[in-house]
Amino acid sequence: MPSISSSILSFASLLAVAQAHGVILGAQGIQGSPESVGFKVEPELARNCTSISPCQQDTTIIRDAEIAANVVNECGRTELSGNIDIGENTENALAAGAVTQVKAGTQLKVTIHQVNADGAGPYACDLVEAGNNGVITQNLTVENNVPGVNGFSQAKTQQFEILVNMPEKFSCSGSSAGNVCTVRCRNNALAGPFGGCFPVQQVDVEPSQNTAANVPTSLSLDKVFKQVSQDQADLPDAIAAIQEAGSEEALKNAAAVSQLLKQTVTSLPAATQTLDIVTGVATSAAASATPTAVENGRNGNGRNGNGRNGNGRGNNGNNNNADNNNANAGNGNGRGNGNGFGGNFGGFGNRRRTVFRA
Ligand SMILES: *[C@@H]1O[C@H](CO)[C@@H](O)[C@H](O)[C@H]1NC(C)=O
Ligand SMILES: *[C@@H]1O[C@H](CO)[C@@H](O)[C@H](O)[C@H]1NC(C)=O
Repeated sequence: MPSISSSILSFASLLAVAQAHGVILGAQGIQGSPESVGFKVEPELARNCTSISPCQQDTTIIRDAEIAANVVNECGRTELSGNIDIGENTENALAAGAVTQVKAGTQLKVTIHQVNADGAGPYACDLVEAGNNGVITQNLTVENNVPGVNGFSQAKTQQFEILVNMPEKFSCSGSSAGNVCTVRCRNNALAGPFGGCFPVQQVDVEPSQNTAANVPTSLSLDKVFKQVSQDQADLPDAIAAIQEAGSEEALKNAAAVSQLLKQTVTSLPAATQTLDIVTGVATSAAASATPTAVENGRNGNGRNGNGRNGNGRGNNGNNNNADNNNANAGNGNGRGNGNGFGGNFGGFGNRRRTVFRA
């Protein structure tokens, strides 16, 4: 993945370019599950204008050339925020209980807001089953596509609902939950492509327990060399960009934007996963198939694991610990107290949620 600095670089150096123009306002999978929202889509931003600022500021630009140059990752960038960190945004969405659910063969309703002419259809969607490893594993069929040819039509400030079909066979393995995929949709406008990414949680798959040794992706030697030389070329600008971003004025600007847009991040304490020393497999803190946004924010005491709680409390409904005995009898193993990823949802409800408001 590109570094933060390269994303800032890209943001700075490309500011002057694109005018952009389709936004994923929502994606609804299985009925009754939460709705996902496109990464970096700002709910407070006006949708009734076509001007570059503010109405195009959170549309996502996803260009293969920028991805290949390691300027952005596979979900591209927005004009307001630069490179989209898929992992970060997925974890934020999980914590906020804002990840829609899917199963093999289910359909997603994806609401696309067309800002102006080149936010038109057709949109093509694909899937990153590992969430953020950069590998597009399947193309998805789209029905009821946004009207348009080559990304153009006369529609503007208008919303369309496209239908995206999940495959019969797929296996989401991304995120701390171990069962989250990233869906990416984008049109074919030459000033774009425009579109966005959002997370989906697969509820008919066993959440993945990763071990470092079985992570499958690799780059060719050629790509590694290219990336190294690209990164070396970028570094001076990237360092300058991050210095600039830390300047008083830049910080003031960022704070003003954050306040205007009422940006919030729900924050939960992270689970601690314990790996078996022989197999590398997690012996505790199994990922949860169904992290649901549960209301009560306080019974499992927000300080998981670490030797204080044993399994004793906050443990209701979470017998995943039964096979943890090797982990550390008596000290409450990893996330000992029944929260979060314990294999079922004693789950998220037990973790304190903090909402930060800028
Ligand atoms: C556009 O929407 C914003 C709210 O997002 C509202 O304050 C504003 O009055 C609207 N402007 C027009 C021209 O309708
Ligand atoms: C998805 O479709 C594109 C063409 O649009 C093709 O190049 C790519 O190989 C396909 N990806 C997969 C995983 O089938």
